[in-house]
Amino acid sequence: MLNLSCFVALLFLSLNHSISALSCYECQSTFPASSICLPPCTTRFVLDSTCVLMRNISLEPSDVGSLRAAHIGDVSTIPNITEKSFIFGEEAVYLNPSPTVGWDWEYGPITYGCDTNGCNEPGDVNRLPNALNARIPNATLERLLLGDLDNSCYVCNTCVDSDVTNTDMSNCTKQPCQSHACGFVATRNSPSSTAQCNAAWHYSSYCMGSREVAQVDMTLIYYIRSKSFYIYQMEAICLSNDCNNMTTFKQLKDAVTVDPDLTCLIDYSNSSTTTSIRPVTSTAVGGLTSTAVGGLTSTATGGLTSTLTGSTEGSGSEQIFINTKLFIFVIFSFYFIKF
Ligand SMILES: *[C@@H]1O[C@H](CO)[C@@H](O)[C@H](O)[C@H]1NC(C)=O
Ligand SMILES: *[C@@H]1O[C@H](CO)[C@@H](O)[C@H](O)[C@H]1NC(C)=O
Ligand SMILES: *[C@@H]1O[C@H](CO)[C@@H](O)[C@H](O)[C@H]1NC(C)=O
Ligand SMILES: *[C@@H]1O[C@H](CO)[C@@H](O)[C@H](O)[C@H]1NC(C)=O
Ligand SMILES: *[C@@H]1O[C@H](CO)[C@@H](O)[C@H](O)[C@H]1NC(C)=O
Ligand SMILES: *[C@@H]1O[C@H](CO)[C@@H](O)[C@H](O)[C@H]1NC(C)=O
Repeated sequence: MLNLSCFVALLFLSLNHSISALSCYECQSTFPASSICLPPCTTRFVLDSTCVLMRNISLEPSDVGSLRAAHIGDVSTIPNITEKSFIFGEEAVYLNPSPTVGWDWEYGPITYGCDTNGCNEPGDVNRLPNALNARIPNATLERLLLGDLDNSCYVCNTCVDSDVTNTDMSNCTKQPCQSHACGFVATRNSPSSTAQCNAAWHYSSYCMGSREVAQVDMTLIYYIRSKSFYIYQMEAICLSNDCNNMTTFKQLKDAVTVDPDLTCLIDYSNSSTTTSIRPVTSTAVGGLTSTAVGGLTSTATGGLTSTLTGSTEGSGSEQIFINTKLFIFVIFSFYFIKF
């Protein structure tokens, strides 16, 4: 009886483990501007992964557009994430010199992250939202970024806590910057960050080499399940004396809102949370953890579609291997407990 329950427990644990192996599409293509070309893809299982689908489409006919499906671990441009279902992108606002246009918001490439098998299907690329639709009120932009720059800008290079509670600039110097522009960049620890400030911001401010238009550029992520967002980087150019200070940064950061249109992302509201299924004890399964990839996932979730070809066969033989290992392990435990 004890052995039976032991077996059931082991089976349960190993199944639970295999559920955290995720199958994602993998492929990449480039094409002229917006004529999206869907490349042939393969699929691959990776333990505890997140699938990503990256779209970079330009409306300029002379530009090159690109599409990439991958496991998150293979993409160096995505920073650390805290939830596996997200939209990540870069958006910017600048004051168009034409008064009829005014504050003009633009968006860049977008990356969709998800955690169900095959959820980064490149054929779904048109379901992705265009942008996170980040916004800062016009009045805030006007107050913080515009004015007359006839004297100086701050020059600073320091770490600032997450909430920017200390906006004291006394450790920064000022530099003459007449008729140019002041700038700052604040970056959380990310692959592109130059200084390590733990979970806080690396804040750096400077005088721009030339006159430029007022603008804010942000890299940010929207977590679909918790409906929350997180700013990884904010870069701004402002046009009044000493305007590139931490108060400006804090007020801009606090004024950001996002509102992505996710109505076409079919799986977002009802996607199963494979990541939340975890074994109660990880020590009990030991060596099985790293080998439990592949075919078991498809039987456990039933989520595999017919589009999976080569890799399903590969994982089939892997499943036999795992089952053999499990069998040996159970027999071993049987004797161990009995004697
Ligand atoms: C997106 O495409 C544009 C235009 O081809 C290119 O300049 C830019 O570097 C690309 N961005 C990424 C993140 O690939
Ligand atoms: C902000 O300004 C832009 C152009 O300058 C305008 O299109 C937009 O409607 C304004 N937004 C609000 C809320 O006034
Ligand atoms: C300024 O720098 C000194 C020495 O590094 C430090 O002790 C002090 O806390 C800093 N002040 C602020 C406001 O960051
Ligand atoms: C991402 O998170 C991991 C673990 O939390 C940490 O070890 C790593 O340094 C982080 N990477 C960056 C670029 O912050
Ligand atoms: C910070 O910049 C704002 C404009 O963005 C300005 O009104 C304020 O006086 C500046 N603060 C300091 C301490 O320079
Ligand atoms: C999500 O699932 C629930 C119950 O299973 C269903 O009532 C609801 O309509 C689904 N929502 C979407 C957007 O499919």
